[in-house]
Amino acid sequence: MSYDFSRSASREKSNAEKYQLKEKLFHTTDLLPMWVADMDIDTPDFVIEAVQKRLEHPNFGYEEMPSSAFLAQIAWLKRHHDIVFKEEELLYSHSVVASMNVAIEAFSEVGDKIIVQSPVYPPFFKSVTQHNRKVLFNPLKKDVSGEYRFDFDDLRSKIDKDTKLLLLCSPHNPLGRVWRREELLELADICLEHNIVVFSDEVHSDLVFAPNKHIPFASLSEAVRENTLTAFGVGKSFNLASFAISTVAISNKLLREKYQKVYDKIHFAQGTALGHVAFENAYMYGDVWLCELKEHLQKNIVMLEEVCKKHNDKISFIAPQGTYLAWLDCSNMHLHERELRDFFVKEAKLGLSAGISFSKEGSGYMRLNFAVSTEIMKEAMARLELALQRLKR
Ligand SMILES: Cc1ncc(COP(=O)(O)O)c(C=O)c1O
Repeated sequence: MSYDFSRSASREKSNAEKYQLKEKLFHTTDLLPMWVADMDIDTPDFVIEAVQKRLEHPNFGYEEMPSSAFLAQIAWLKRHHDIVFKEEELLYSHSVVASMNVAIEAFSEVGDKIIVQSPVYPPFFKSVTQHNRKVLFNPLKKDVSGEYRFDFDDLRSKIDKDTKLLLLCSPHNPLGRVWRREELLELADICLEHNIVVFSDEVHSDLVFAPNKHIPFASLSEAVRENTLTAFGVGKSFNLASFAISTVAISNKLLREKYQKVYDKIHFAQGTALGHVAFENAYMYGDVWLCELKEHLQKNIVMLEEVCKKHNDKISFIAPQGTYLAWLDCSNMHLHERELRDFFVKEAKLGLSAGISFSKEGSGYMRLNFAVSTEIMKEAMARLELALQRLKR
């Protein structure tokens, strides 16, 4: 390994959301925060160096996202995900969630129904209700092996003429599922049959562990591509969330024009000088770093598995196929929601996301973000282990 993920710079005294909000969310500062989906792993040096070089120029007036940045992303998507976009198909965005909101406004009317597959990253359903649309919940269902699957029967039975949009999370936060081609094909067929546009949030797509492979929704067929908007970005893959930069790929000209109308109406900006540089350099030089990061993340999964195996009467856990998020089934602890949260905060001194915040199906679960250095992961696992040993059943 050429990169060292064993330690990372302390974020304790920085403006990091994860640390700043400890007191507000957990009512204590004495815990390791493992909630919000960014990494306690330093952003890669080649990105930081490029940003430092840009700082040598003393002008930070308005910028356009340069063609070179789009081309770097296009090359990355081709290399990593076997999909080719033209530059004109890509639009800058400062936030994937903001792009989703633009899509909601562009492709549905007040009162329309939008499909959300829960449990899921909360802005999926919050964005729908904030726009006075109705959430059509199509909960994901565990199969006999414990793997979450789409529930197509439920979906078919709920779709009606008011159903306009599907918000797909691929790979899935918080479940860590990497959807297989045949699953996506069936979902795509249903959407095509009922004229439902798909907004596919693929911001976690670079964080997929072999032998799983990310299949871009838009790559399924020409017809699917024409019916899909896809969000891609560097925020998760290279820990660049605060550079606020991603793109939306829309191949269908009519869909793109509709989207662009809302985008222009609310004056989406053109990005930041430093964001453009960070984005381009991450995609240009990030292959080896990302590969090694994934090896490191897999070691963290093994550490978590070891603890959970020892205490499998209390926590069960299926290794995620992608993302750096672990979905811990704590239902065998038989604790009420408040007690479960208290167990992690007060006994384990770990700040996790409560499963219930991802929808009611998340009751009894906790989401742990394991994108941390080895040093932090060891400390976190020691705390969890001790708390589980002490827990009386
Ligand atoms: C699936 C998913 N989409 C979007 C986001 C947020 O993206 P952005 O910060 O670009 O709005 C997250 C962050 O956790 C996420 O997990």
